[in-house]
Order: sequence, then C-alpha cells, then structure tokens
Amino acid sequence: MDQLSEPCPSGPRSAGAIHVATLAPGADLPGFRTAARRLIAAGIAPDAVVWQTERLSLFGAEAAPADAPPLALPRAVTDLIPMVVPHRDPERYGLLYALLWRVTRGERALMEVASDPLVHRLHRMRKAIGRDLHKMHAFLRFRRVPGADERYVAWFEPDNHILEAAAPFFVDRFRNLRWSILTPEASAHWDGTLRFGPPGRREDVPEGDGFEAGWRDYYESTFNPARLNLDAMRAEMPRKYWRNMPETAAIPALVRAAGARAQAMIERAPTMPEKRDPVRAVERMAQDEPDSLEALNAIIARSEPLVPGATQAVLGEGPIGARIAFVGEQPGDQEDRQGRPFVGPAGQLLSRALEEAGIERSEAYLTNAVKHFKFTLRGKRRIHEKPTAGEVSHYRWWLDRELDFVAPKLVVALGATAVLALTGKQIPITRARGPAEFGRPYGGFITVHPSYLLRLPDEAAKEAAYRTFVDDLRRAQDLAA
Ligand code: URA
Repeated sequence: MDQLSEPCPSGPRSAGAIHVATLAPGADLPGFRTAARRLIAAGIAPDAVVWQTERLSLFGAEAAPADAPPLALPRAVTDLIPMVVPHRDPERYGLLYALLWRVTRGERALMEVASDPLVHRLHRMRKAIGRDLHKMHAFLRFRRVPGADERYVAWFEPDNHILEAAAPFFVDRFRNLRWSILTPEASAHWDGTLRFGPPGRREDVPEGDGFEAGWRDYYESTFNPARLNLDAMRAEMPRKYWRNMPETAAIPALVRAAGARAQAMIERAPTMPEKRDPVRAVERMAQDEPDSLEALNAIIARSEPLVPGATQAVLGEGPIGARIAFVGEQPGDQEDRQGRPFVGPAGQLLSRALEEAGIERSEAYLTNAVKHFKFTLRGKRRIHEKPTAGEVSHYRWWLDRELDFVAPKLVVALGATAVLALTGKQIPITRARGPAEFGRPYGGFITVHPSYLLRLPDEAAKEAAYRTFVDDLRRAQDLAA
C-alpha cells in the first residue's frame, strides 16, 4: 500500500517540494512499485522524496492519485528489487528509487557497473537477504500441536523482513501439512491457502515432541565426525537459531565423541562402497525443483557422491549475474578438502591465466560439471579418475539449473567433460575450440582444461599451449563483454 503526499507544496513540482511516500511496515513490494511508478512518471527526483513506513489508515488510500504505467526495466533491476525490499535498512526504498531514477534516465546498464557505490551497496543488501532466506529455510523447525486440528508451528527470528519471501519454500516442502510460522513481526499460515497475520510469540510454540526426537535422530545419523569444523559450523548456523533446533541438543555430545569416531572411520578406510543407480538419482533430483541458487546448492550439498569417497560436494563460486562462467570437469583432491572449486594446481594455473587475460576471478562464476571428487586410492594418495558419461549426465540437470540461476552472458567449457555436460555430446576439443552454441540463452566457448597444460611433458610445448589458452580466455572475455 502506498500513499503519496506533498507536505510542503510550493507550486506544482517546484524546486524544493518534498514528496512523502508512505509504505506499509516490513517489505511492502506492491506499495513500493506503485509509488515508484508514480514518482518516476511525475519526474520527481530521488532527493525530493522521503520514504517512510507506517501502518496506513484505510482512509489515506482515498487520496492516492491514479496508477502510473509499469516501468520498462532491465531484468537485472526487476530481479534485484524483491531481494532488497525485505532488507531492514530504512534507506532501502530510497536507494532502490535512486537506482530506478538513473536506469530510466538512460543508465540502462547501471547494474553491470559493480564499482558504482549505489550498485555495490544494493548488491550487498541483496546478498544479506539471500543469506537470511537460506538460514530461515535451513534452520526453521516445526513442532507439532496435536489435537483434532493438528497443526505444525515454528518460531523464527529473521534478521530482515523476509517472511513473505521465505514462505513459498515451506508451502512447497510441507504442502500437505497445516502449519504456522510465527516471527516477532508477522506470521504466516498455511492450510491450503497462504495467509499472513500479526506477530507471534515464542511462548505460542510448544516445547519438544516426537517430531523433535526425529530431527535429533536424523542429525545424529548424518553427522560426519571427520568433517567437524566448529568455526565453520558456528558461522553457518549462528547460535541465535540453535534454541529452536532440536538437533542442536545433540551437538555437544557429538562433538565430544567426534575424535574417536573419526579415528574409527580412518581405520575402516579405504573400503569404497558400491556405486549408486544414476537413473534413479536423476529422477529424484528432477522432482526436487529448487527456486533459487541457494536452494539448489542446499540440495547439491546434501547429496551423496554418485561414486562414494568424496568428502563433500563442491559448489560453484562467484556472483549471480557474472558475465562469464567457467565450467570445469570435477573437483580435485584440494577442492574436495577445501570445498571450493579450482583451488588446486589446475585452479591456480587457471587463476594466473585469467589474470593475464584481464578477467577478475572474483567477478567470474566458476563451477564444475561433476560436483564430487572421484578418485582411486594408491596407497594413501587419492588419484583423480575421469568421470564416465553416465556420471556426467547424473549432474547435468543441476549444472543447467545452476547456470540458469547465474544467467551469465557466456559460458566457457574447460575441456571435454565440460563440453559433454553442456552439449550432451563427446566432441574433441581440437575440433570445437572457440565460440560454440550450447542451445541455452547464454553464448558458449570451448577451450582446453588447465590440467591438460600441466600434463604436457615438454616445457616449450607447455608455454606455447599456455599462451594459446590465455588468448582463448581473452577472446571469451571479449565475447562476454
Ligand atoms: N579441475 C576441475 O575441473 N575443477 C576443479 O575445481 C579443479 C580441478
């Protein structure tokens, strides 16, 4: 709901007139859209607008002027707005309006200027909301309220006004249950229809129940003592959320026992369990349609390796909306240990080549066709093993979704496995090297994998191949621009 008024009118649109845009508390996306359209249509500059939030009286709406037409905005802007409106920063609407003002006055590509202070700030706000949504999706726990009218209720304290943005995720996951999510500022209720209501209180959520014991058992059974990292755990799951999460009661005992359990695991190694059925695994993935990169990453992170052995899934890294994305083969030994793509020897060579080609690694998106490290053991060494075509196709659905969310201008396939993942075909790199078509909305480019350069036996050949690789990256960068 929005309401526009001019408390200091000194003639129509005269210099110095201040326009007050009043929006509902929390995340008032429709109110912001309506107000922004009207203000832009009336040619009112950002510094002449005061944005305030308060509960509006029903009578106020009568004074509102007629709707202005929708604005034609670049997708990067329309995607950004709903991810900034929930931010708790009182300046959020003013900042977004300043962005709209500049974009509609000719700076159409403003969102691509990452160094612009306004864009930089809005990106940071969007990231904060992404993190907050992820925490709510991951750490919210329902408790059962038994009775004829059985219902599940959860208490959650998000950092920002994200309840409305977060609720559809729970509708998808718990469509067949009746549930309520209570927060200090509003509540959401699902019984076949999603409704939002007034704030709730923690005391309205019952204490532990059988459902809770289920969570604890589940957590204990999935806890991997060899991957215990207390700092990472606290960073990922801030203590503030612990008291709502039944399974955290199990953490102190699990942590105490972790050393002994990890030792027992080492003694049992290296026996590698049986391979899974890729067809069934792909079917399961397709049923689990994520609605954001974070949701997708949560699914990938939870997944078991197709060929068991890897420590963890290695997710893609880089900003959403990166102009250029690189797809490698699969994480190597170092990537598997650190949980980040391209940090081992091939990754370091790639970083050097990117720098020489004038590509800022932190602004590019880096990922792999296959998300888990596959290896054979030679003594204690884990020797990289190439994924089979079946294994590549197992991860293909994820890679497609991932690149859809990142929406780069150009995707660079590094090596034959990436080409197979992106095209579904086995194509020799020597034949396909250069600009390519992957049948997706982004452009394509094919080049060698940096580990190929590391394997060349002779130094002169290595140097020549490296130069050609850097030239390829420069061409790709030009295409992405
Ligand atoms: N090779 C890859 O293809 N990806 C990595 O992340 C590391 C090495």
